[in-house]
Amino acid sequence: MSLTYIHSAEMRRKVYIETYGCQMNISDTERICTILAEAGYEICDNPSDADAVLINTCAVREHAEQRVRGRLDTFGAVKRHRPGVVIGVLGCMAEFHERAFLERHGMVDIVCGPDEYRSLPCMMESAFEGRRCACTGLSIGETYDDIQPMHSGGVRAWVTVMRGCDNFCAYCVVPFTRGRERSRPLKSVVGEVERLATMGIREVTLLGQNVNSYRDGTHDFADLLRAVASIDRRLRVRFMTSHPKDFSDRVIAAIASVPNICNAVHLPLQSGSDRILLAMNRGYTSAEYRDRVSAAREAVPDLALTTDIMVGFPTETEDDHRRTVELMEEIVFDAAFTFRYSPRPKTRAWGMTDDVPDDVKTRRLEEVINLQRSHSARCNRAHIGRELEVLVEGPSKRSPADWVGRTETDKMVVFPHGDVARGDYVKVKILAATSATLRGVVVRNVTHPASVQESAVV
Ligand code: 5AD
Ligand code: SF4
Repeated sequence: MSLTYIHSAEMRRKVYIETYGCQMNISDTERICTILAEAGYEICDNPSDADAVLINTCAVREHAEQRVRGRLDTFGAVKRHRPGVVIGVLGCMAEFHERAFLERHGMVDIVCGPDEYRSLPCMMESAFEGRRCACTGLSIGETYDDIQPMHSGGVRAWVTVMRGCDNFCAYCVVPFTRGRERSRPLKSVVGEVERLATMGIREVTLLGQNVNSYRDGTHDFADLLRAVASIDRRLRVRFMTSHPKDFSDRVIAAIASVPNICNAVHLPLQSGSDRILLAMNRGYTSAEYRDRVSAAREAVPDLALTTDIMVGFPTETEDDHRRTVELMEEIVFDAAFTFRYSPRPKTRAWGMTDDVPDDVKTRRLEEVINLQRSHSARCNRAHIGRELEVLVEGPSKRSPADWVGRTETDKMVVFPHGDVARGDYVKVKILAATSATLRGVVVRNVTHPASVQESAVV
């Protein structure tokens, strides 16, 4: 820590940070908070109290960028009343547009890419002195391994285990905004999770853009999963995002044999058409995807499988779209994030004509959304009458009389609040289900979750 940045208590400047995009950004924001707190800033949760407003951004789709531009307009208005306020754009949009962002947006003082967060205190000092600045270098080694994330509370935590992506899917900006793949050492990830477990965290999600290609020189992702899960059997372990071409039998075996590695996998399909998968540079065919699903379901019969589907990639025909729908019908996902293709500069697909008309994209998107909704409802209804182990998260945002928690398969369960506390494991009898949630009643508290009982037997 540099002493230059420490302000005395009464002059501690306040920083408000707003986060958009994926879990990786949420996890990055937690590290940014630590970097700024160590430099003497106070993190606040109201922009009108703040001396600096930072937006951690996403560039994956044009729509995500538009939302950030909307927020910048709002904060620009704040700045007209309080000209001293510093405005910073961080993350993927910063990396994507680099210095040009400063030229196009006069109210922005700081542009800081995902590998430059250590420079933020320095950039903030400059900005408060009236010098606008951009730092957008990408690193081949930066993992922020030594920076403890500042957790926002709750029973769940995200742990970034690798950064960047080398896959270069034809539509995706991530390799350009987050750079080359690099992994943290296993020992250091284990150390972070051990600390989280002693703080009362009950569930960790290991994060990486392409988490299955984790490699620290000695260990692969299956080793990492097993090591993290052995810290405490009461700690649930999840991970995302898997890539079908790297989702190995070793990872499947770890899920199947280690009780507290959750039986839930997010495996983006994108398209059911081999021609489109090839054009997307996804590195697998629909048959290979099917093979991974069969292997996982055979080893883990109650596996919950979720996915990403994209419609309207350049040249996608009705026949290609039908193949996506048919594969969805065959596999039946528990949930899916669905997207319409959005052309992004720098990517390989940017050079292709965005030739699927807007109304066709909309219709195809509606079709996959409706199909998925019926599949999600069907998967969820299958749980009615069962007693499921639920990790209690806290009060429901919708109705204060209800509490919410999650099953091992990541299904949200709502139940009337009884004698339970945040972080408890309870058995909930499921009485009703929609496509989004399960509803039930607590039948008993569980002192030893199934994962602990099972591991005693193993
Ligand atoms: N247009 C639409 N969707 C995209 N995704 C990534 N890039 C684009 C794009 N250019 C989707 C993919 C990915 C998810 C995180 O976002 O489905 O899996
Ligand atoms: Fe983007 Fe493909 Fe990497 Fe995922 S695997 S981050 S879609 S390039």
